[in-house]
Amino acid sequence: MNKKTIKDLTGADLKGKRVLMRVDFNVPLNESSEVADDTRIVSSLPSIRYLVNAGARVILVSHLGRPKGEINEKLRMDPVAKRLGELLEKEVKKADDCKGDNVRALTDSLGEGEILLLENVRFYSEEEANDPQFAKELASLADVYVNDAFGTAHRAHASTAGVAGHLPAYAGFLMEKELECLGDKLNNPCRPFLAILGGAKVSSKIGVIRKLLEKVDGLLIGGGMSYTFIKAQGYEVGTSLLEEGMLDEALAVMDIAKEKNVDFILPLDFIVAEEGKEDSPTQVVDWDRMPPDMGGFDLGPRTIELFSKHIHKAKTIFWNGPVGLFEVQAFSRGTVEIAKAVAKSGAEIVAGGGDTISAIKMAGVGDSITHISTGGGASLEFVEGRTLPGVEALLDA
Ligand code: 3PG
Repeated sequence: MNKKTIKDLTGADLKGKRVLMRVDFNVPLNESSEVADDTRIVSSLPSIRYLVNAGARVILVSHLGRPKGEINEKLRMDPVAKRLGELLEKEVKKADDCKGDNVRALTDSLGEGEILLLENVRFYSEEEANDPQFAKELASLADVYVNDAFGTAHRAHASTAGVAGHLPAYAGFLMEKELECLGDKLNNPCRPFLAILGGAKVSSKIGVIRKLLEKVDGLLIGGGMSYTFIKAQGYEVGTSLLEEGMLDEALAVMDIAKEKNVDFILPLDFIVAEEGKEDSPTQVVDWDRMPPDMGGFDLGPRTIELFSKHIHKAKTIFWNGPVGLFEVQAFSRGTVEIAKAVAKSGAEIVAGGGDTISAIKMAGVGDSITHISTGGGASLEFVEGRTLPGVEALLDA
């Protein structure tokens, strides 16, 4: 970690000081507008508690969803403030805006150790545009800036990057932990090092696949993206997900795997159906016998066995993306069995992505995972070796 963290701030730097902390409270809400999964809020508690205990006046800012620069009543931060207050057993004040005179009055009246959560920062289009004036206005609310929003660190937005140009900027504990776990564990892995990649699209993972092929001993591919690799080898995939534009790229990475002696493992069989619905009749078919009028929605039993064998041998595992349509129970077995096998492996396990986290929860194995990243896109970009603007903007250690 080559950036300063809040541990570098002394008591005098924090006591009575207004600290603006960017958090990633982009959490799912249920139909009653309550927080459906508070993982990201819980993950920020160490930094929040640290600032509160040091007597800082804590101003939290986050986005929620993608309101595209407009006020969206369904994406206000109130449910998040409520959940945070419950977790901290402490009052969390909530502002109805993130800039302007009313917000300034609220920040000015905050006492030591008190917390204010600003309104969804993406209600302003200036946030995603990283507008310099908007960043300056946000910065003017505080004396110090902390970024604990690892999940949004791959975005060069006003509250993640621009604001750091106006205030001394430090990493929070979550940011530090994410960078250390993703960096250390994956750059200095115990071997064999196995990556498991799933999810719908090859195109969104191609950069990370290429990077991982430089590091891993084996790569298991499941989920929607596996069909593009199968089609690329000249086999039919029925109505399964397919990215025609990625066929050449798929073949190219399989060649790289061969050159580098990396085990590149695709499914041997699938659960197919006409539709990915709960009550659709299903069949198990081999990978090279996909019926033309059906699509694959989960791994078949031979694949679960094959993947589990590789998982069992691994000493380090990186997992991103479900290996089937796990949100539909009829197609969840593959992902749940892989989660269980990963948990039983005894390997150092780094998992990331919202769907992967849900799958791990569904399988009830969260306690066995070494590090569950709160970042989806951010963890992939980091593993890919890209610079994260939200990290880059922080003070060098
Ligand atoms: C995420 O959920 O991955 C982060 O909060 C970033 O959200 P975004 O993809 O809308 O920028």
